[in-house]
Amino acid sequence: MNTVAVVGLQWGDEGKGKIVDLLSQEMDGVIRSQGGHNAGHTIVVEGKEYHFHLIPSAILHSHVKCYIGGGTVVDPESLLREIEVLKKEGISLNNRLFISPYAHLILPYHQLEEQIQEEGATPIGTTMRGIGPCYEDSVERAGIQLGEWIDPSVFKKRFFANAGKKKRFLESMGGATFDPEAIYAKYVDFSKLLREFITPFENSIDAELKKGKKFLFEGAQGAMLDVRFGTYPFVTSSCTTSGGLAVGAGLGPQTIKKTLGVIKAYSTRVGHGPFPTEFSSEEMARFASHDQAREFGTTTGRKRRMGWLDIPLLKEAIRLSGVTALAITKIDVLDQLNRIKVCVDYEGGAYPSFYQGDIGRVKPVYKEFEGWEKSTKEIKKLEEFPKNVRIFLNQIETLLDCPIELVSYGPERETTLRLS
Ligand code: IMP
Repeated sequence: MNTVAVVGLQWGDEGKGKIVDLLSQEMDGVIRSQGGHNAGHTIVVEGKEYHFHLIPSAILHSHVKCYIGGGTVVDPESLLREIEVLKKEGISLNNRLFISPYAHLILPYHQLEEQIQEEGATPIGTTMRGIGPCYEDSVERAGIQLGEWIDPSVFKKRFFANAGKKKRFLESMGGATFDPEAIYAKYVDFSKLLREFITPFENSIDAELKKGKKFLFEGAQGAMLDVRFGTYPFVTSSCTTSGGLAVGAGLGPQTIKKTLGVIKAYSTRVGHGPFPTEFSSEEMARFASHDQAREFGTTTGRKRRMGWLDIPLLKEAIRLSGVTALAITKIDVLDQLNRIKVCVDYEGGAYPSFYQGDIGRVKPVYKEFEGWEKSTKEIKKLEEFPKNVRIFLNQIETLLDCPIELVSYGPERETTLRLS
């Protein structure tokens, strides 16, 4: 099987970055095809931390080519910062980083629009990166594709047509305003710096696949943040499921042969919206602290909300992406607990739809597991895991009717085991 998609099955932050990093070693190419710099992956290699927002973390493997697909939204300033860090580290991007001209350009007025939206009646708790307004423009057919951006005459026309409208709107709402001329000049300069990476690569991926090359599709966010099937309206603005990744890459859905779903051993979410298994304050006090659990947003630094694993919700996420295998992360965060709860059903056995109205009303039914109360840090093979870890993993597989292929129990590359 030469293609695999790696998708999050909760509300993002499942630890996909580390799993992608591990699997990327065997890949020829890695594609990010939805979302933008709202995502954040932290990779620890030999004690050194790397933060990624849009560039696939696989860029750290010198043999892997990295692609940013047409389904993404691109903030040039943030992307250039990522490129700068990589260049400083001596990582070559030449003939290794490709950005689709179909992707859309995030402009400063998108962030200003988002400020107004988030001050309104239904704040989502977004990352404030301009992601939603940029996608809004793209479906309104008023956005600017990167291919248009790097063509000076097209960009000028499209930018000033949009900027006038945006400025009038922002001013009428009493929001912050902007200087179109200054932004235009700045974004022309950015386009000169990024032009070398912008190329329609979609055809070449098909050709590479025919030659048997291996590709990984790197999902951002998670199933419950999917713009259509997540906990709407508290979602992001792109399709976060496996199908969405194929569409965003400009490839047929049959291209993705396998989908690996990543779950965290408990649940988290950032921003507002329903969260059936969220900890009570008492449970929170007994759980690992935010610092110990490393539960601060990579992009915004916000404290993540935390709760127990939610099986009905994961089953839905597995169905949405056609997941056939799982990776489970952050087992080590449960090390100190003497009891671990898992939501196995919702009260009354009602299996809700997952739109916000329904999921906001459910009451979880929990099963309790005995904890292991031992550090898993030094584990090297499956048999070395305390018995209760193995029982916990077996039960998750049974409850989800899906095999676990990878277990991660720490931020470093070494704290990962392949089970099959
Ligand atoms: P947006 O994507 O910035 O529009 O934010 C919409 C919702 O998705 C908010 O609840 C964010 O906290 C959440 N979100 C967006 N990206 C991520 C991510 O990478 N991890 C976790 N949550 C995210």
